Amino acid sequence: MAVTLVKHDIKYAEAMHELSSMPQVRDALGLPAGKVEDTINFIKRECVDEEEGKTVPRVVLNEEGQLIGVTSLMFIDHQKKSCHIGSWLGYPFWGKGYNLEAKTAILDIAFFELGLLRVFAGARKVNIRSQKAQEKLSFIRLGVESEYPEEHSWLEVKEKQPCVLNVFEREDFVRYRTSLEKVDGKREDFLPQLLLADDSEKVVRDYLDQGTLYKIKCGEVLAGVALIIPQSNTTIELKNIAIIPTYQGKGIGKEVLRQLTEICQMEGYQTVLVGTANSSIDNIAFYQKAGFRMEAIEKDFFRKYPEPIYENGIRALDMIFFSKQL
Ligand SMILES: CC(C)(COP(=O)(O)OP(=O)(O)OC[C@H]1O[C@@H](n2cnc3c(N)ncnc32)[C@H](O)[C@@H]1OP(=O)(O)O)[C@@H](O)C(=O)NCCC(=O)NCCS
Repeated sequence: MAVTLVKHDIKYAEAMHELSSMPQVRDALGLPAGKVEDTINFIKRECVDEEEGKTVPRVVLNEEGQLIGVTSLMFIDHQKKSCHIGSWLGYPFWGKGYNLEAKTAILDIAFFELGLLRVFAGARKVNIRSQKAQEKLSFIRLGVESEYPEEHSWLEVKEKQPCVLNVFEREDFVRYRTSLEKVDGKREDFLPQLLLADDSEKVVRDYLDQGTLYKIKCGEVLAGVALIIPQSNTTIELKNIAIIPTYQGKGIGKEVLRQLTEICQMEGYQTVLVGTANSSIDNIAFYQKAGFRMEAIEKDFFRKYPEPIYENGIRALDMIFFSKQL
């Protein structure tokens, strides 16, 4: 089973109208009885709102390309980096596992394309099925009404009745979506990714075949690579870690460090080392935020690189080693 999300289009009006007019959906959402023209107007409004950055409405298609529902990121607050999610599945498609797939796909957009931090999911208290469906998602946090009272009262005013408030946090979703997969085959294929973290192809080729290389997967998509090389029985070096640019700054690197240190600990290592250039200001912040401490400086490490490297207006000369005790 695999759902696809596509943009709203008037060609979906008939199917959307038919499914949303069934009492199981219409009553749950409190939709007024309407004609297909109303659905056409709704689709047009949604498209305008999307252009204005207020919403990301998506039609959910099943494996046969059939419209099975709608899922939308609504009331996007770009300052707070949050939004609300609204979804429905047509009654014939209930209980088939489509909810998890549609939610995962729209949350990929929220967290990895829009870079949001949290997505609120409300439900009317009378809508037990919707609440039960949300409770089944392992990456949701339930009952956050008192943590986000403003969001909660806003929701109850909008719905004109008591509601529950749940939330998808980026950190939980990133943990759910990120996995490490050992590379058994040719490592050469991953040179473009490894070169994101190390400018010299010669240097990368020198260590390419050592240690263990992992593909970083975000769902089924390649989001980066990480290479760890043992230095002794107790110390292992994170020689290279790179997240593909479109996935950077979304919490994946942090989650990879968490998973990698867990692996290294299970394998009996006591210390993880990682080096970064004196000019890599963002990386120096990144490792310290993940609990690494400065260990040593290897002066002039980067002088052996064929081309001088500049970042943040600083020449890369020295390697700063960070370590983390496991
Ligand atoms: C370095 C890299 C692996 C980090 O992965 P990432 O997915 O972008 O990182 P994350 O989003 O998980 O975390 C970045 C953290 O650094 C912080 N950060 C980044 N730049 C910062 C700065 N200048 N000041 C303060 N904090 C900064 C972010 O705020 C974030 O921390 P937070 O989530 O606690 O707020 C990735 O950006 C990358 O591949 N870069 C190119 C290759 C590279 O440089 N590799 C490392 C070689 S040593």
